[in-house]
Amino acid sequence: MVTAIAPANIAFIKYWGKKDATLNIPFNDSISMNLSEAYTTTSVEFSSSITADEVHLDGAHLTAKEISRMTDHLDRIRGLAHSTFKARVVTKNTFPKSSGIASSASGFAALTLASSKALGLSLNEKELSILARLGSGSASRSIPDGFVEWKTGEDSDQSYAYSLYLDTYWDLRDVLVIVASSSKKISSREGHGSATSSPFFHARLMSMSERIDRVKEGLKKKDLGVLGPAIEEEAINMHASMMTQRPSLFYWTGATIDLIHAVMNWREEGLPVYFTIDAGPNMHLICESKDAENVAKIAKAMKGVEQVIINKPARGAHLV
Ligand code: DP6
Repeated sequence: MVTAIAPANIAFIKYWGKKDATLNIPFNDSISMNLSEAYTTTSVEFSSSITADEVHLDGAHLTAKEISRMTDHLDRIRGLAHSTFKARVVTKNTFPKSSGIASSASGFAALTLASSKALGLSLNEKELSILARLGSGSASRSIPDGFVEWKTGEDSDQSYAYSLYLDTYWDLRDVLVIVASSSKKISSREGHGSATSSPFFHARLMSMSERIDRVKEGLKKKDLGVLGPAIEEEAINMHASMMTQRPSLFYWTGATIDLIHAVMNWREEGLPVYFTIDAGPNMHLICESKDAENVAKIAKAMKGVEQVIINKPARGAHLV
């Protein structure tokens, strides 16, 4: 039996829309940071005595669709290892599933590493990132350490993520504010499929390279005054595109909007904090470590906030 841990990641530049939906090849490059407190632990065992794949998720129910996505991924890895053994998979998240915290990212990254090892494959980081991407696009970014870039690439072999900077590079914090932990109605997988139906999608892609440059400059200079505005614009841009898709994807709740206004006010009062939001109502507040406790405290006091978790940058997927 092999056990692997993989972090969720928060996208500073988002992956939204696929050039190739079967291979999860995105329209644009994306950039993310791994999260220290939101991770998946997965143990995998292959054996001739197991008659059918078994997948257990601690504390939550997996739908038939979710189980088949995981067994399809096991088939992919068995194919590479020329194995016909069935698997027993036991997996556990530190955070609620399908709440806008990328459980598919940490889940498929951990499953990829644990399963490939359990079948005796020795894949390098690039190969693991490509394989994880085939399970879930954002999982490609949970393989490398720290601050990560995923290049779209022209084909499957070129579409993988690598570390821009290690987790120890910059003491940033992601104060994750959970406003609702119930599962979302439309999965990001379905949403990706109709991303191009928004009249703003094309404009989003046209303005992308300029935002990517600013995010990279902010990281390079460790300057939150450069990084913050770029990631906030990027989140609003993606959600404007989501809201105007057909059918419309509206992930924000009243609590999300109240938080957006609050963050803008806190900044006016001199607190350097910026927000980003993935496919859900929860908010990630990005700030320096010195401000994290204060940001967590004032966020926690807001109406509708259920839980606040302070994340540091984290390593990528690793065996335990
Ligand atoms: C909004 O990686 O969950 O969180 O490839 O279909 O599994 P699939 O999609 P997924 O999409 C994540 C979308 C996002 C933005 C991001 O993480 O970059």
